[in-house]
Amino acid sequence: MNKLIVSLLLTVGISGFAHAAGDAAAGQAKAAVCGACHGPDGNSMAPNFPKLAGQGERYLTKQLHDIKSGKRQVLEMTGLLTNLSDQDLSDIAAYFASQKGSVGAADPKIVARGEALFRGGNLAKGLPACTGCHSPNGAGNAAAGFPHLGGQHAQYIAKQLTDFRKEEGGRNNDGDTMTMQTIAKRLSDEDIAAVSSYIQGLH
Ligand code: HEC
Ligand code: HEC
Repeated sequence: MNKLIVSLLLTVGISGFAHAAGDAAAGQAKAAVCGACHGPDGNSMAPNFPKLAGQGERYLTKQLHDIKSGKRQVLEMTGLLTNLSDQDLSDIAAYFASQKGSVGAADPKIVARGEALFRGGNLAKGLPACTGCHSPNGAGNAAAGFPHLGGQHAQYIAKQLTDFRKEEGGRNNDGDTMTMQTIAKRLSDEDIAAVSSYIQGLH
């Protein structure tokens, strides 16, 4: 492993988010309103709405707190979480985490470049392999709060990487270590397109 990934791995763990355990059965009813965009079981049809099915509970809970507080801006969800308690957020996260995520397909024209990047990173650019944290099959690491990526819509993944790359008005809720902001700044537009397509077909 190169130096960047070792230092990132060491710091990411301790900046994580503590939360109460969720109740998936209670979460199902509370998640009814989310289904319109994310799909009733968390497998959304539209490529700009992320799939939540099978996502790690810890990661989902953190995102819900970040979206509710405005630390991560999701205009489409404005006001939706305002009246939900910490327990409600944990229950909803547990419900979607318990669902089975669906998988899409990669674009054969760019999949090789995407796979090389995901599995090997880019030494010359100081880019660590994505597998180090998101695992070789894209399942992530639920306990550590590293998100599951495999099968996610390419359009959503590409938007996140582009947002992490932005200096202003993008996504910057990846903690004090700025792990994903650091990584995304080393990706070109072509890298983002290729790795996002690869991820969509990964399982
Ligand atoms: C009107 C559509 C809409 C509704 C309704 C909605 N969302 Fe979202 N949600 C979005 C969009 C769009 C994004 C992605 C925004 C972006 O590109 O960063 C998102 C992102 C998320 C994420 C982050 C996913 C990730 O992989 O990081 C979570 C978690 C989430 N929504 C949960 C919920 C929950 C729980 C509800 C119901 C209480 C809900 N959403 C209702 C549109 C919606
Ligand atoms: C050192 C660990 C680490 C490495 C290496 C890493 N990531 Fe991440 N990634 C994370 C963490 C942690 C988050 C969650 C940040 C947060 O809490 O919002 C994340 C979030 C993401 C997200 C947002 C997921 C979502 O559902 O919104 C994408 C996309 C992503 N990473 C892609 C990549 C790609 C592509 C690579 C390789 C080029 C990569 N990551 C390498 C740790 C890592």
